[in-house]
Amino acid sequence: MATWSAPGKVFLFGEHAVVYGKPGIALAIRPRVYVTVRKTSHAHHAKSPYIDQCFKELNVKGSVYINSQLPSSSGLGSSAAVTVATLAAINDEFGLGKTRDQIAELAFKIEKRVQKGRASPTDTTVSTYGGMFLIKEGTRKRLAPQNYHLVVGNSQATHSTARMVEKVADLKGKYPTICEPVLNAIEAITLDAMKHLDEPQYLGRLMDMNHALLDVLGVGHPHLSRLVLAARATGAYGAKITGAGGGGCMVALAPKNLKARIAGALEVTEGRALITCLDTEGLRKEKDA
Ligand code: PMV
Repeated sequence: MATWSAPGKVFLFGEHAVVYGKPGIALAIRPRVYVTVRKTSHAHHAKSPYIDQCFKELNVKGSVYINSQLPSSSGLGSSAAVTVATLAAINDEFGLGKTRDQIAELAFKIEKRVQKGRASPTDTTVSTYGGMFLIKEGTRKRLAPQNYHLVVGNSQATHSTARMVEKVADLKGKYPTICEPVLNAIEAITLDAMKHLDEPQYLGRLMDMNHALLDVLGVGHPHLSRLVLAARATGAYGAKITGAGGGGCMVALAPKNLKARIAGALEVTEGRALITCLDTEGLRKEKDA
């Protein structure tokens, strides 16, 4: 029996723009997903296509138990975390000798297949290695860890990443002269953020700007707008949609002493709040009970 865990993620800057070759900044967050794999002679019966693909890719049979503290389908990277932790647990249980890089690569391949081609390596990279990354067109740059106080608000409105990516592509097709500069402005925000990663107040303003531009791209949602406004009104440095939008989650960067108040405000504004911080650890082997 082998148990491995992997963290969730948030996009701090640049979602959607990364689909068009622009840079994005994403970081691993608590909580984690825990996956236990045990050798069996018969095939497992997982309900997740991601898990099915992990066993298929590594050509073994086993049973799997998932303990996820991450809400699924909310833009916090739970499918990537499940995929990388399942691959690592299979690798360990069956002694396959895969490296962390190989697991990250395989996890991305699986995400891409299950999501019918619509996936960037952001989630699988961040979940495998932990910490914070600048991601751009298949390259990744690890950034110095920061002690951010983050409050995530889950709008609980269902969203589909594939549909939102398509929506932006449609808008860009219809209004290219407007959408191109918007994507360029998001890129400028990400690049400016790179120079101010240890200045939360400055970053907060950039998050507000990034949020407005995501709204322009049509990936806003009334619940998300209300959550973002509630976070700002209770003292967040800044707040924005995180991930694909159209539902799912927003994230606020908070002063340490205000994060509980911001979380409370999100809870009363129809959201589920999560106070979190950077998780510098990626894939991790857990002790067997
Ligand atoms: O909501 P998520 O975590 O699936 O994030 C999607 C981010 C996009 O930039 C819209 C797509 C991608 O694959 O990077």
